[in-house]
Amino acid sequence: MSSIETKSRVFSGVRANARPHVGNYLGAIKGMVELQDKFDCIFSVVDLHTVLVPYDPKTLQQSIRDVVLDYLGAGLDPKKCHITIQSHLAAEHLELAYYLGCVYPVSRIEDLPTYKEKKAQYPDYINVGLLYYPILMAADILLYNAELVPIGIDNEPHLEVAREMARKFNGMYGTKLVEPKRYATTGGSVPSLVGEGKMSKSKGGTIILTDSLEEIKAVLAKAVTDSGQGDKFPETGPAANLVTFVELFEGHDKAQQYRSMYKESGIRYGDLKAELAEAIYKELQPIQEKRKYFEEHPEEVDKILADGKEYAQKIARETLEEVRQKMGLV
Ligand code: TRP
Repeated sequence: MSSIETKSRVFSGVRANARPHVGNYLGAIKGMVELQDKFDCIFSVVDLHTVLVPYDPKTLQQSIRDVVLDYLGAGLDPKKCHITIQSHLAAEHLELAYYLGCVYPVSRIEDLPTYKEKKAQYPDYINVGLLYYPILMAADILLYNAELVPIGIDNEPHLEVAREMARKFNGMYGTKLVEPKRYATTGGSVPSLVGEGKMSKSKGGTIILTDSLEEIKAVLAKAVTDSGQGDKFPETGPAANLVTFVELFEGHDKAQQYRSMYKESGIRYGDLKAELAEAIYKELQPIQEKRKYFEEHPEEVDKILADGKEYAQKIARETLEEVRQKMGLV
């Protein structure tokens, strides 16, 4: 049995509603790979968060496995971090979520921008589960006394809830739940190829980590373009987005060349897209090879998940023991 590490703890979770795409990879996963060298990391597939919006039970197991394989392919190393499936520790996560929910006002949850967004997204599915989203997320983190949570800025309101819950709970019961901070990973924001804002599964036009060169080309073929020429390189819009992609995958110099070209001869998007597709594929190839190894060795993946569960469960049970005692439940 592995002993509990004394380094600062990091927890992060990813839902299994869709496969991680290159935006998730550059924005989050690459950062997680760096963190595993410095901290005691627990990275979880938060499948209990997956079932609180409409989903397909028939494909859920495969979706969970795909996320695990993508993580391992992208470089999460089971010798350096712990990988868990949230539902394998359902008893622990849900028990703490319940206690936290008992001390937190419904009105604060209803005010969260994410709750409002989900309500708008699934108007026929506004269930109690949705209110539990931030409570469960707080439990995910507080259960392990994680100090740092690598996650996008859009999740900051959820972290604020987790901190408030920890403070309130500690104040009421004298527990020592740790208030977590967001850890801003250095990864850039990857723009959408088909619309405004950042790349996201809901907008479509995403490139996932197992895409072949042909599939990447097909996604890029659909990417919006403009005339490719003008007096000034635009700060937003199709040209800006595609050149940001170039910057991320082919480097700054190449991107600058396109920016100048825009003001001179004009950008030929066919050529840009062909080169960019190759560059993206080159970045994904080693990930795909490593992923394939784990796909072909399912027993190794099962062992990684069993070890992750064992490690996490030990910490979770200690936290819960203390919480139950202070609450007068034992
Ligand atoms: N809310 C996260 C997302 O937007 C998922 C999540 C659930 C999470 N529990 C977590 C992230 C705990 C970090 C820590 O996908």
